[in-house]
Amino acid sequence: MKSHYCGEITSSNLKEEVTICGWVHRRRDHGGVIFLDVRDIKGICQAVVNPDNKESFKLAESIRNEYVVQINGVVRNRLEGTINKNMHTGEIEIEVKNLDILSKANTPVFPIDEYQEVNEDVRLKNRVLDLRRPEMNERIITRSKITSLIRNYLDKNDFHEIETPILTKATPEGARDYILPSRVQPGSFYALPQSPQLFKQLLMMGGLNKYYQIARCFRDEDLRADRQPEFTQIDIEASFVEQKEIMQISEKMIKNIIKEFCDETLDKFEVLNWHDAMEEYGCDKPDLRIPLKLIEISDLVKDEEFKVFAEPAKDQNSRVVAIRVPNGNSLSRGQIDDYTKFVSKLGAKGLAYIKINDVKDLENGIQSPILKFLKSETISNIVDVLKVKTNDLIFFGAGPQSVVNLSMSSLIKKLGEDLNLYSSKWAPCWIVNFPMFEENAEGDLTPLHHPFTLPQCSKKELLEDPKKSIAYAYDVVLNGYEIGGGSLRIFDKDMQQSIFSILNISKEEADKKFGFLLKALSSGCPPHGGIAFGLDRIIMLVTNTTNIRDVIAFPKTQSATCLLTDAPSKVEKEQLEELKIISTHKEE
Ligand code: AMO
Ligand code: AMP
Repeated sequence: MKSHYCGEITSSNLKEEVTICGWVHRRRDHGGVIFLDVRDIKGICQAVVNPDNKESFKLAESIRNEYVVQINGVVRNRLEGTINKNMHTGEIEIEVKNLDILSKANTPVFPIDEYQEVNEDVRLKNRVLDLRRPEMNERIITRSKITSLIRNYLDKNDFHEIETPILTKATPEGARDYILPSRVQPGSFYALPQSPQLFKQLLMMGGLNKYYQIARCFRDEDLRADRQPEFTQIDIEASFVEQKEIMQISEKMIKNIIKEFCDETLDKFEVLNWHDAMEEYGCDKPDLRIPLKLIEISDLVKDEEFKVFAEPAKDQNSRVVAIRVPNGNSLSRGQIDDYTKFVSKLGAKGLAYIKINDVKDLENGIQSPILKFLKSETISNIVDVLKVKTNDLIFFGAGPQSVVNLSMSSLIKKLGEDLNLYSSKWAPCWIVNFPMFEENAEGDLTPLHHPFTLPQCSKKELLEDPKKSIAYAYDVVLNGYEIGGGSLRIFDKDMQQSIFSILNISKEEADKKFGFLLKALSSGCPPHGGIAFGLDRIIMLVTNTTNIRDVIAFPKTQSATCLLTDAPSKVEKEQLEELKIISTHKEE
């Protein structure tokens, strides 16, 4: 239908007869001449319709924005003074010989020919229009190019792309399963995969050596700006590998992506122990671009009369930390109140602070609502430990570890953003040596990664003190986002059964849920390990957005709804009957 893409016609095509197809980006009437800016995937080209071309002119008069047209004409230079140096096609225009309207369009709900802030729900309901906006168009194309780079990279490194089932059995990754009823086996259900975890392990046992898949995963969990109920993993597994080999191959892949798409060379990834990350940043996904850390000051304040600090300082499961904010002295009372509200929402009971006007005069040169509660010697010790300077501000967090870690790590990220404290554009790191288990609110142990992760200790040591055991598990964090996580896997049936027993999964239940895995583990299993990256999150970072929905063509909202198609939706009664399903839901 077309001889050229709109965006590709330049003065090298002068005098050529061309045919383009695309959307009318804008129509302008200029003293009897009609200009049509026609847009396609490669860009915009100007076409000119003269009144002496009566038929085309009449059609052009009826054209509105977003009509789809086919234009045939001859490329000519634009008149002096009308050249647009900012446009790839800005030196030329097409003198229209023939114009066809291929499809008419209603007035767009929001303009495509100029940028306008549009409510996200409106964008999602009108996703077709939204996808035409240049920034969305570019993100989706970048996504496709990144996927292609990843495939090339892994193919070159001897990985095989292998598909795994979507209609399957539960794969525990810490979220709820999406389940699907079976019609032919009434009362039985498939689960959609939370990840291809067990299948990729089975592939290793099947001798396939190196696997990858750009895999869709489904998790029914609380959604956030960086989480979708269905998302895509770059899922990787290899046999006969050590942790460092998986780390190397992953690191190179991420470096290639950033080099190719952001033209930046990433430094070597820092490697942090999980325990140290929690101590120093209060979380296992620190944004290392921000040079703020949590400094433990429990020892310095445990004998103070100020109970807010002293009590948590003495309690094993609590902590007292300080953050030094360089030049934070300029924060106003209002700003500090806002930060206090911010941490309160995350469970903190308050946010003490000290402003340092003159570090050489701790008698008169500091301001704080808690001065009266602390001995001057303690303040002096804190100032020393934090290496505080004049004009700095110190924030304090005290309370249960979980609350302090969550609130103060979030405060670091917020301060970094608000005060633009970023010291670099990219800060990748590995978090390693995760504990095998964490204790949930009920006091039960749950896996920090997943139950197939290999512990670094023997089976005997594991069973003696599971809480102490450390996993061969590793996460990749980029600019404060967990972009990937993986582990070496258990390749011994007894060890796998021990993990199930620690998780209170009975032998019967283990056989029922994971019998196929246990059987495969007894049929000659290579040591193996792998990793999965969140493709959507990587694309978010590369395309500089903080909203995961911006990098997915047809995403879901926070309530897991597709506003375009209205999924999920009711089904016919007959369909439920066929599936032998009765809904107990009562309409409100
Ligand atoms: P994990 O659960 O850590 O590991 O997932 C791997 C990566 O997938 C991304 N991710 C998500 N992205 C968007 N929306 C979500 N709801 C979501 N959940 C996870 C994250 C995360 O780092 N089977 C293991 C991997 C392995 O052990 O090899 C797994 O799924 O970027
Ligand atoms: P209060 O004694 O509750 O009035 O608190 C005195 C000061 O300590 C106020 O500035 C509070 O913001 C701060 N504060 C109270 N609880 C905490 C806490 N858990 N962590 C940090 N600061 C706190």
